[in-house]
Amino acid sequence: MTSSRISRKDRDFSAYRVFTCELRKLVSAPLIDGTWTKRVEACLDGTAGAELRRLVNLPVRRAFGVFFTGSKLAERLLDKLKFNPAIDFIYDPAVGAGDLLLAAAKRLPMQRTLTGTLETWGGCLAGTDLQAEFIEATKLRVALLARQRHGKKEELPKDWRKHFPYFRTGNGLNQPALYSRATHLIMNPPFSVSGPLEGCNWAGGRVSDAALFVVRALEQTKSGTRLLAVLPDVLRSGSFQHHWRQRVSDLAEVNSVKRYGIFDESADIDVFLLSARRRQGESARVRRWPKSAKRTTGTVGDFFDVHVGRVVPHRDPEKGPEHPYIHPRCVPTWTVLREFSETRRHEGSVYDPPFIVIRRTSRPSHPYRATATVISGTRPVAVENHLIVCEPKKRTLNSCRELMRQLKTKTANDFLNARIRCRHLTVGVVREIPWAS
Ligand SMILES: C[S@@+](CC[C@H](N)C(=O)[O-])C[C@H]1O[C@@H](n2cnc3c(N)ncnc32)[C@H](O)[C@@H]1O
Repeated sequence: MTSSRISRKDRDFSAYRVFTCELRKLVSAPLIDGTWTKRVEACLDGTAGAELRRLVNLPVRRAFGVFFTGSKLAERLLDKLKFNPAIDFIYDPAVGAGDLLLAAAKRLPMQRTLTGTLETWGGCLAGTDLQAEFIEATKLRVALLARQRHGKKEELPKDWRKHFPYFRTGNGLNQPALYSRATHLIMNPPFSVSGPLEGCNWAGGRVSDAALFVVRALEQTKSGTRLLAVLPDVLRSGSFQHHWRQRVSDLAEVNSVKRYGIFDESADIDVFLLSARRRQGESARVRRWPKSAKRTTGTVGDFFDVHVGRVVPHRDPEKGPEHPYIHPRCVPTWTVLREFSETRRHEGSVYDPPFIVIRRTSRPSHPYRATATVISGTRPVAVENHLIVCEPKKRTLNSCRELMRQLKTKTANDFLNARIRCRHLTVGVVREIPWAS
């Protein structure tokens, strides 16, 4: 569902005020006791996300890309960083309830007084979000963290908000003043999909908002700024995202790309962690996006021509010559298929056996990521587009059997699990599977 299909009433995140009210009470509580401490610990960690899930329904959260980062992932992203408030300025352009900024604040020094700490932290932390409720939650949570760390000594000053001039409601895609000031950009941008984008040559059609956030941030920030981002894994591994990876490598030196796994139990999406540094200028031909696999004895693409099956069942007219027809539901796996239960008329490309087909969809947890079938016989076969076709360059049945054997090995599975976490195998990734000759 896209954000445009959500009703005006549902666009409203005001239900989240139930949580900000709770935060407000904790911030201004006169007494710090055991109960206060426990409640604050919860509010500074999982409760912000749990309350979001309780108060805002899933289609709305999906449409607006609103998923808050847990402390474990935030800590992984910031890792061993320490910040110096005299020189560092840390900006999260899609700040949500401030989970990444809280991890950053924990890496900032405290001052002698609570007011001094608020002033120091507020002078070097910045966050924007489209939702005013989230900005309010961010301010309250950063203030709560400061108060928690100072302990019983001091209450929060009445005018504490004045110390947070850089937490604002606004569009994080367009904040030149904050970007040009930042020394560090930290983000878990929305994973929703928009587009097509005008004048954007690195994105063909619809594009992930996360991809857009990274490029816009790098375009607006100054050279030397460090970017740390939690991003959907498809940007790391998808063939269509190749132009995005090129654009990022033009703008920044990509220091590390680390696969993380599932975001959390509530958002079943695989993510990776990107660390990059804005280059001086663009297109420097030094260090590009890191290669994901070392080639040793060649890859499947050296021995097979790899394509997606050409039949799109609900689009292609059933016209032309009649052919044996295969799709994932009529092809048994790990066998040699010589007889076909279905036929179909098809005018487009068909394939002469022998060849191998691989199912395009596989769960990362499956024992085999690429389940295959060898297709034999004498007649050309029409193949549905949910199957990937590998035609042996030697045109022999034996090379197809050999590929089927290799796809069952731990080497192939480990490669695919490391290379691609989303369910869809791509032609590019199948070509890259290591080939043991
Ligand atoms: C995936 S959440 C992450 C929030 C937070 N950074 C975290 O890690 O918990 C993305 C956030 O981006 C916000 N958002 C979406 N589009 C935005 C835009 N154009 N400008 C600023 N914030 C935006 C959403 O409201 C949401 O809070």
